[in-house]
This record gives sequence, C-alpha cells and structure tokens, in this order.
Amino acid sequence: MASSLDEQQFTISPSELRSARDELQRFLLEYRFGMQEIETKIGILRDEFLHNHDYNPIEHVSSRVKSPDSLVDKVVRKGIDAGFDSIRANITDIAGVRVTCSFVPDTYRLFDLLTAQDDVTVLAVKDYVAQPKENGYKSLHAIVEVPVFLSTGRVQVPVEVQFRTIAMDFWASLEHKIYYKYDRQVPARLLDELRDAAHTAAELDTHMELLHRELHGPSTSTDSRAQLSV
Ligand code: GTP
Ligand code: MG
Repeated sequence: MASSLDEQQFTISPSELRSARDELQRFLLEYRFGMQEIETKIGILRDEFLHNHDYNPIEHVSSRVKSPDSLVDKVVRKGIDAGFDSIRANITDIAGVRVTCSFVPDTYRLFDLLTAQDDVTVLAVKDYVAQPKENGYKSLHAIVEVPVFLSTGRVQVPVEVQFRTIAMDFWASLEHKIYYKYDRQVPARLLDELRDAAHTAAELDTHMELLHRELHGPSTSTDSRAQLSV
C-alpha cells in the first residue's frame, strides 16, 4: 500500500536544509518587525499618558513570535497548505502582543488609541470582555496590520493584540495550564470552578476600579468607553 505523504521519507541535502531554515527565519523576521512596531506604539502611548496624566494605564506588555513548532501544529490543525503564501493568508497570530492593563476601561482606551492610528488597519476584533467565552475567558482581541519598511519595500504585517486586565490575565494563565495539564479534557468540576473564578476576577476588577475612582476621580482612567475615544 502506498504510504501517505506524511510517512514518506525524503532525502534533502544539507544545503537545501540550510536554505529552508533561512527562508523560514526570513519569513518569521517580518512578523518580529511587525510586533516591534506595535510594541513601540504601545510604549509611546504609555509614556505620553504618564507624562500628560501622571498615570500609567499599562501594567505590562509581553510579546512573542510563534515558534516554528507551534506554527506547524497550527498549519496541520487548520488543514491549510504549508506554503508561505497560504500561511501568511490564513494564520494571523504569528506575531502577538499582550497588553495587560490596570482597569477594564484602560483596555478599551488603549485599543481605541492604537486602532485610531492611520497606519494601523483593523482586520478583526473579538470583544471577549463584553461577551466572555463560555468558559469565562475575557480579553479584547484585535488583529491589526501595520506597515514594515524593509530594504525591498513596504510589507503589511498582521499582529494579534490582546488587551486584558491583571485579573483576566491571572485567570487566563491558570486556565491555560489546567487545559494543558488535562490535555484539553478538563473535568466538569474544574470547569465549574474556573467559571466561578472568572466571576470572582470580574468582581475584583469592578471593585478595584471603584476604589481607583475614589482615589483619582473619574478623569484619569475610568471614563466610559464613549468618553474615552474623544
Ligand atoms: P487560536 O487558533 O487558538 O489562536 O484561536 P482563534 O483563532 O479562534 O482566536 P481567538 O481570538 O479566540 O483566540 C486567540 C488567542 O486568545 C489564543 O491563542 C489564546 O492566546 C487566547 N485565548 C482564546 N481563548 C482562550 C481561552 O479560553 N483560554 C485562554 N487561556 N486563552 C484563550
Ligand atoms: Mg493563537
């Protein structure tokens, strides 16, 4: 019986292997640059905020370019063609930036300020803050495209940006660990507990925001979304 493509043995020369590696590194480099553009934009917003309002709406920023391993996993999971053009078109979270904010209104404020910039194109938004996932997950997600200027010209690079509060981040990182520990088959009791914990985290966010308001008044960080974008 003919073996499937996966099982076939290919022989490739060291120089072909090296050139495949170089091509992949070059492909991923564009995403690293796109990620750096977003990091810079977020950093500028933070510094300007601090200067203007003596208030920092960002607790921390983390970013990553998908590892070749997890990129391959996703290509297989999505059943897409493994060529660079197909990956470029179908996988929009190769570059990711996570912005952890102090309070819920800050997540929307940062989102609004970033996406209003005229070199930032919004490709998709998922507002899991307004509409949390069934498991309790909350975060505001945007896939944005930014221009990167290479020696060969300008390329548009998609970057996934996630905005969340410290409480949402705390919940998501624990949920992620549990999910993997149980190999995606989390017992029902734990799922219930996670939903409960998500509720508690949301209450903490509301509580902390109220305290913050008392301390600073509404103008520093906790305006409603409509007021934030003006
Ligand atoms: P992926 O294929 O996993 O990237 O998801 P997607 O294309 O359906 O997009 P979505 O916006 O739902 O999720 C993007 C990213 O958000 C994920 O890669 C995670 O980083 C995060 N995320 C989404 N859902 C959950 C969740 O239920 N728990 C945790 N811990 N993180 C999540
Ligand atoms: Mg992802």
